[in-house]
Amino acid sequence: MINLALVGYGKMGKMIESLLDPKEFKLTGTFDVTNPPKTHLSEVTDVAIEFTNPANVIGNIEFLASKGINIVCGTTGWYDKINVVKDIVSKYNTGFVFASNFSVGVNIYFKIIKEASKLFNNFGHYSVSIEETHHTQKLDKPSGTAISIAKYVIESLNRKEKYTNDSSDPSDNELNIVSKRIENIVGNHKLVFESQSDSIIIEHNAKSRRGFAEGALIAAKFINCKKGFFKFEDIFNNLT
Ligand SMILES: NC(=O)c1ccc[n+]([C@@H]2O[C@H](COP(=O)([O-])OP(=O)(O)OC[C@H]3O[C@@H](n4cnc5c(N)ncnc54)[C@H](O)[C@@H]3O)[C@@H](O)[C@H]2O)c1
Repeated sequence: MINLALVGYGKMGKMIESLLDPKEFKLTGTFDVTNPPKTHLSEVTDVAIEFTNPANVIGNIEFLASKGINIVCGTTGWYDKINVVKDIVSKYNTGFVFASNFSVGVNIYFKIIKEASKLFNNFGHYSVSIEETHHTQKLDKPSGTAISIAKYVIESLNRKEKYTNDSSDPSDNELNIVSKRIENIVGNHKLVFESQSDSIIIEHNAKSRRGFAEGALIAAKFINCKKGFFKFEDIFNNLT
């Protein structure tokens, strides 16, 4: 039995709660901006699943780690502070797993686009771009998932060296991510290869938040009683 706290009780926190199997998880508390864990966490907790926002995530990680609680972190928009988080995890000797996208489908998609991008190395007449569309409440831009896609394409496709966002005139070595915000879109990502003759579009579309929540619970079972800093993308193949 894993004693689990939900830190962030918004759209994701509530979806995760709805999927909890009482044979595997005991919910020790749900926390949001009105009752943050710093002042309200009291019960013994093994793992906290953190889905809040970029402004509060680092403070939450530091607090939870200082209490010896292992963390599954789904919040996006903090990856420029990844070394700060690595230091926190190492200082308190706890377990931490994060993902820009916990959906198993997206993690399969990452592997597909990595291989697909290599096929275009000898065909420079194809342009390549990423398009991400999300609901209008999303705070970060481009999405964490789009940044991960860009990273994999840059690793695989020799002609791209860095990404740019919403550029009207990207240079040859830049991979442009086009960001769109439209009401009620959970998360849509397209990798688009375009030539004068045709378009090849590799798309992932999230139908609901359920896939993210399922993956976060898989990660919670993985990180329970473990120590160290993990990226879900690197471990998920061995978990399912
Ligand atoms: N990694 C993934 O698979 C994935 C999937 C979906 C969303 N996300 C990310 O997860 C985050 C949350 O998404 P959401 O759709 O649930 O947002 P949301 O706005 O619906 O919920 C955020 C919650 O965090 C709470 N909160 C804010 N500050 C807090 C604090 N200091 N302590 C505790 N709770 C606090 C808010 O009260 C709210 O309940 C976003 O960064 C989003 O981009 C990641």
